[in-house]
Amino acid sequence: MVGRICGTGSCVPQRTMDNNDMARIVDTSDEWIRERTGVVRRHIIEEETTVSMAVQAAERAIENSGIPAEEIDLILFATSSSEVIMPCAACEVQRAVGAVNAAGFDLNAACTGFVFAFNTAQAYIAAGMCRTALVIGAESMSNMVDWTDRSTCVLFGDGAGAVVIRAEENGLCRTAAHSDGKKGKALTCLSRHRKGWDKTQDDKESYIQMDGQDVFKFAVRKVPEIIEELLEAEGIGLEEIDHFILHQANRRIVEAAAKRLKADISKFPMDMDEYGNTSAASIPILLDEMNRKGLLQRGQKIIMAGFGAGLSWGASLIEW
Ligand code: ACO
Repeated sequence: MVGRICGTGSCVPQRTMDNNDMARIVDTSDEWIRERTGVVRRHIIEEETTVSMAVQAAERAIENSGIPAEEIDLILFATSSSEVIMPCAACEVQRAVGAVNAAGFDLNAACTGFVFAFNTAQAYIAAGMCRTALVIGAESMSNMVDWTDRSTCVLFGDGAGAVVIRAEENGLCRTAAHSDGKKGKALTCLSRHRKGWDKTQDDKESYIQMDGQDVFKFAVRKVPEIIEELLEAEGIGLEEIDHFILHQANRRIVEAAAKRLKADISKFPMDMDEYGNTSAASIPILLDEMNRKGLLQRGQKIIMAGFGAGLSWGASLIEW
């Protein structure tokens, strides 16, 4: 059995902040941010929360699938920035969307989270442990960044995306996943709960710290590698892939990955200009945008590839 995507949904906060807004907060400029990252604006939560955006995205994905919520038997929620730890965010979504027959849990693999969650759902389906899964990536990165640190706060945005996948006899799904904990220091954010007795603590380490160039080099090397790994395992050529949906961290990373693969850049859709890096939400948001624009046709082959803290990287080759 293979899980085929049959519905997508997304939700981003109402409020937008463009690069000129950022330049009023930290010492930066529209030109610097656009050139280095491709980001023009990002959506930032006000009243919204990670869970409330996820609920909206999930409702839209369920509606788009045409499958009743009661038929969902697994909810996987990829996030590293949920405001709620207990109950897990997946159970909050379950309650809100009425997926009464689903088991749900959260999964944290930072920006790789959605792909790892998607691959986990596929493993459940292949093992006969579930038939219909709701897979969500949702983040409030604005809660995780130090808004006085220009090297990180300009990069990220908030949002949520979701897909419904259903078991089918025939179809294509090949997965790959890797982590390298030795390189973990390149991208860190320590829990604000780690010293419960010291309620005043709010130090630098509680915000995202990143060696941008290390992460950049890692992504540009590992994304092409994992794509080639999938193509080789499936025995197909690069030219057979219709869309490469990469984590939307940075335009230069996507362009460099396409160049290394000698692939046509027009097959690498991008939307980081509008949303910034929404971590685990970026791939399902982009997928939903493409789906709603009618750009995805049944039978097309798609590779989704995520990368991020861990360091970790993962990919899935699917047929639409
Ligand atoms: N505005 C203006 N100047 C800035 C800013 C800013 N927002 N941020 C940094 N600078 C300055 C630096 O201080 C530095 O100045 P200096 O030369 O006087 O010291 C200069 O710009 C160059 O800084 P670099 O860090 O070398 O810039 P770089 O070209 O590497 O671009 C960037 C930085 C955009 C972060 C890049 O390294 C990158 O995209 N890395 C990948 C990051 C990423 O994608 N992370 C997410 C991974 S996914 C996840 O799991 C969260």
